Amino acid sequence: MSQILQDVQALYEKNRRTVFGHQYTIPSPELYPFQWLWDSCFHAITLSHFDLAAAKKELRSAFSRPMPNGLLPHIIYWEYEVSQNNWGREMRGDVINKAWGVQGTSAITQPPIMAYALWRVYQLDGDKEFAEEQYKVLETYFSYLENGRTFNGDSIAYIINPDESGEDNSPRFDLAQSLPPIHDAPENLDRRIERMRENATCMFNAKECMSKYFGVADVSFNVLYAQDLDYMSKLAAEFGYTTESNTFTQRAHKVREDMKSQMKNGCVFFSYDHLLREPIRVYTWNIFMPLYGGLLEKDEAQQLVDEYYLNKDMFYTPHLLPTTAKTEPSYDPDGGFWRGPIWIGANYFIYHGLKRYGFDDLAQELKAHSIRLLQQSGFREQYHPETGEGQGAHDFTWGGLVIDME
Ligand code: GLC
Repeated sequence: MSQILQDVQALYEKNRRTVFGHQYTIPSPELYPFQWLWDSCFHAITLSHFDLAAAKKELRSAFSRPMPNGLLPHIIYWEYEVSQNNWGREMRGDVINKAWGVQGTSAITQPPIMAYALWRVYQLDGDKEFAEEQYKVLETYFSYLENGRTFNGDSIAYIINPDESGEDNSPRFDLAQSLPPIHDAPENLDRRIERMRENATCMFNAKECMSKYFGVADVSFNVLYAQDLDYMSKLAAEFGYTTESNTFTQRAHKVREDMKSQMKNGCVFFSYDHLLREPIRVYTWNIFMPLYGGLLEKDEAQQLVDEYYLNKDMFYTPHLLPTTAKTEPSYDPDGGFWRGPIWIGANYFIYHGLKRYGFDDLAQELKAHSIRLLQQSGFREQYHPETGEGQGAHDFTWGGLVIDME
C-alpha cells in the first residue's frame, strides 16, 4: 500500500490548483479541469490520510458557491473568476458552462457525501470553528433538498438531471430520456444538455422542472442522502444544536423508511421515475448501495450477494465490479460511460457496504481488485471489467479512495 500512497500523494499534488486563495484538486488535468462537488468530498476523505490542511481547504472551496436557493453546484469554474474574459473560451467544460444558465458554476448538484466528508475531517482535529462554518452551508443545502426536491410529503429526494446521480450516462436514465440501450456518447450528452436548458427555463425551480421533464428518485443519491443527514445530526450535536440534531436523525430515518416502502423489491432497490410513474428496473452497481446505507436485513443482504454480486453472468467479472450488469442490453464494457466499466468510487461504497454486513472476505477481494487495477493500468477514470484495461481520463483522482478502504 505504501507505494500506492506515494503515488496518490504525487497525483494529488499534480492536480492541486489554487485560485484567489481557493485551493482544490481537479479530477483530471485534461478532461476535468474544474472543481467538482462529490469529487472534492472524495478528495477530502483521501487527503485526510496525509494532508489534513489540504482536505479542509478542499471542502471550504467546494462549499463556497451555493446558489441563492442553497443548492451546492456540482461544478465551480474557478477560471471564470480568474478572468471573466475567459467566459466562453473553447474547452470541453465550456459547453456545459454556458448551458447552465448561471455564471461561474453549474446549476445542478451531485450525491450528498458532504456532511460525511466534513465529519471525517472534523474527527481529526476537532476544529469547531471550521466545521461549524461549513455545517451552516450544508444546513441550507439540506433544507433545499428537503423542500425543493421531494414530492407529496415523502422524504425521498429527486434528481433533475442524470448528472446529479454522479453517473452521467448510466442506463438507469435511458428510458426517461428516450435513449435506446446502445447509443453513442454525443447523443447522450445532447439529451443531458436539454435537461440543463430545461432547468434554466424553469428558473431553477426543480419541482416544476421535474414534473414536466425529468425527475428520478435515485437509489444511490438517497442512500447517501440518508447517511449524510445522520452526519448532519452528529455535527449539529457537536455544536450544541440539539433540536436540529434530533430533526436530522428523524429525517434520515424517514428517508430510509420511504425508500424501503417505495423502492424495494425483494432484496433489490430500484430507482423510480416520477414522470413515467414506474420503477427503473435496470441492474447497475446501485443495487449494492443499500448495503452501504444499512437498508437490508441480514438475510436479504446474503441473497443480494449470492444472486447478484457473485453471479458471473451479471457482476462477478474477472475484474470487479462492473457498473452495469452483463445481462443488461446496455452493457458496454469497451468504453461505455458508467455502462459497464469499473469506477473506483463505486467500488469504494460497495467495499464499505460489504464490510458493514460482515462480508469481510469479499470486501478484501474488492479492495485487492481495486489496487490491482491501479497497479496494472494507472489512475484512470474507468477500467474494462474483463481485461482491466484503463479507459477515459488519465491522472484521475478517484483511485486515491483505495487508501480509505480500511
Ligand atoms: C464525470 C462523472 C462524475 C464526476 C465528473 C468529474 O462527469 O460521471 O461523477 O464528478 O466526471 O470527475
